[in-house]
Amino acid sequence: MKIQLILWTLGLMLIGIITIHQIPAIPANEDQVGQNNPFQEKCFTCHAEEVAYQEWHQSNHKQALVNLIEGKYETRDSCLGCHSAGYTQFNSGEWRTHGEQISLKTAVNAVSCSFCHLHSSTREHYLTKNPKTLCTTCHKMDCGCAGAGIIHQSQSEMFMGRLGAGVKRMPSKHSKIMKNRCIYCHMDKDTSKTVAKHGGHTFKADYSTCVRCHENMDARIQQYRETITNKMAQVKQILNVATNLESKAYQDAKLNYDMVKGDAGFGMHNPLYAQALLDYALTLEDQIVPAE
Ligand code: HEC
Ligand code: HEC
Ligand code: HEC
Ligand code: HEC
Ligand code: HEC
Ligand code: HEC
Repeated sequence: MKIQLILWTLGLMLIGIITIHQIPAIPANEDQVGQNNPFQEKCFTCHAEEVAYQEWHQSNHKQALVNLIEGKYETRDSCLGCHSAGYTQFNSGEWRTHGEQISLKTAVNAVSCSFCHLHSSTREHYLTKNPKTLCTTCHKMDCGCAGAGIIHQSQSEMFMGRLGAGVKRMPSKHSKIMKNRCIYCHMDKDTSKTVAKHGGHTFKADYSTCVRCHENMDARIQQYRETITNKMAQVKQILNVATNLESKAYQDAKLNYDMVKGDAGFGMHNPLYAQALLDYALTLEDQIVPAE
């Protein structure tokens, strides 16, 4: 009696596991279920039980639309270009046939699946862009949103070591060895197929990947952090006493400071470039600080 009960329970659990992992076949009218149409994406109708989907639910990408709308900054429809999937396609005319206007009032998607995947793509994993440039199309300082009061973070610029003032290009060494760049650390996968706390579709990176190639990275990062935050404090002091905020020297020093600060607080994605940016800013002291 007892054994039968256990066998039944095990059987039911097995059926449950199998059905959870089965994805229904693609119906004739693909657009109706939103495989190739991010207007209001319905990827969850088939993918909701997958690890990728569940991890995405823990990621900040899921909050991107809410945070934009509830944020303290001045918003405009064009912000949706990076904060809501479907906006760009709609704007370029691709989805106009769907009638409605996508605006801050009608947008429904966040940084959701269809920003990065569409079944109509011929790339691996149906990616909409080359994985090398996927993340950097949005994760950059220049968001074309001047005047809105927000400074976006600088991971792209820091990682590729570019666009700072007065310093030559200095890409992170990682940009050469990590073929898919940001994805290497931020979507690192746990092979056990469980819902991860970092990596995968949480898009979170931590320092546990470093030991694959480095020894004592914790100590080195700590050292970088100290050196860089010290230099940042020095540059900040100079910026604070500046009188001519329109001068090129001030603007250059401020740009470099913001770039370093906008990257995990101390230029984490490229500490060598971060130091070069701050060193250059320090050379501008005489031009920024008025003579007594
Ligand atoms: C009607 C069901 C259905 C819907 C809706 C659907 N998919 Fe799929 N998807 C599938 C099936 C079945 C597969 C596996 C076969 C294949 O690769 O085409 C798949 C595969 C994928 C893969 C490839 C996974 C891999 O291992 O590389 C991605 C990525 C994906 N879908 C994303 C999406 C996104 C994004 C949406 C919404 C815009 C979506 N899907 C909507 C059924 C669906
Ligand atoms: C080029 C792509 C892009 C555009 C356009 C864009 N953003 Fe963002 N936004 C991002 C990315 C990437 C992040 C996450 C990391 C960061 O802060 O840079 C973000 C984060 C945010 C956040 C949450 C973080 C915070 O600091 O509170 C707010 C709010 C925000 N953006 C507001 C806006 C507003 C307002 C606009 C339009 C005026 C806008 N964004 C346009 C890419 C963009
Ligand atoms: C910001 C971009 C981005 C978003 C948003 C995104 N993905 Fe992905 N996804 C990727 C990338 C990049 C890969 C390939 C990862 C790799 O090569 O290691 C991938 C891989 C996958 C895979 C195949 C392998 C795996 O990791 O399981 C599936 C399935 C998938 N995504 C489904 C989804 C679904 C469903 C959503 C929405 C909940 C989603 N993705 C949202 C970027 C994204
Ligand atoms: C379509 C634009 C877009 C793309 C593509 C994109 N992101 Fe994001 N990302 C955002 C926005 C917007 C946010 C801010 C969400 C929020 O907090 O409101 C964000 C947040 C994040 C965060 C959290 C940042 C924090 O401050 O906590 C990480 C990490 C991240 N993205 C990594 C990635 C990686 C890795 C990729 C490439 C696989 C990627 N993103 C692709 C727009 C994008
Ligand atoms: C796939 C191997 C690999 C992984 C994983 C890796 N690195 Fe590296 N890293 C390298 C190589 C190769 C160099 C260049 C040689 C050197 O300077 O040691 C480098 C250089 C560096 C440098 C020197 C400055 C620079 O940008 O050139 C820092 C800092 C660094 N890595 C930090 C990290 C951190 C932090 C992690 C984990 C989040 C990490 N690395 C993960 C391979 C790796
Ligand atoms: C060598 C591994 C590695 C690579 C490559 C990498 N990151 Fe990171 N990233 C990290 C680590 C580790 C952190 C966590 C920093 C922390 O916790 O202080 C991080 C933090 C972040 C954050 C959150 C920053 C914040 O201010 O809180 C974002 C967003 C981000 N990375 C985006 C990117 C983008 C975009 C790329 C590609 C241009 C990229 N990362 C490449 C390891 C990496």
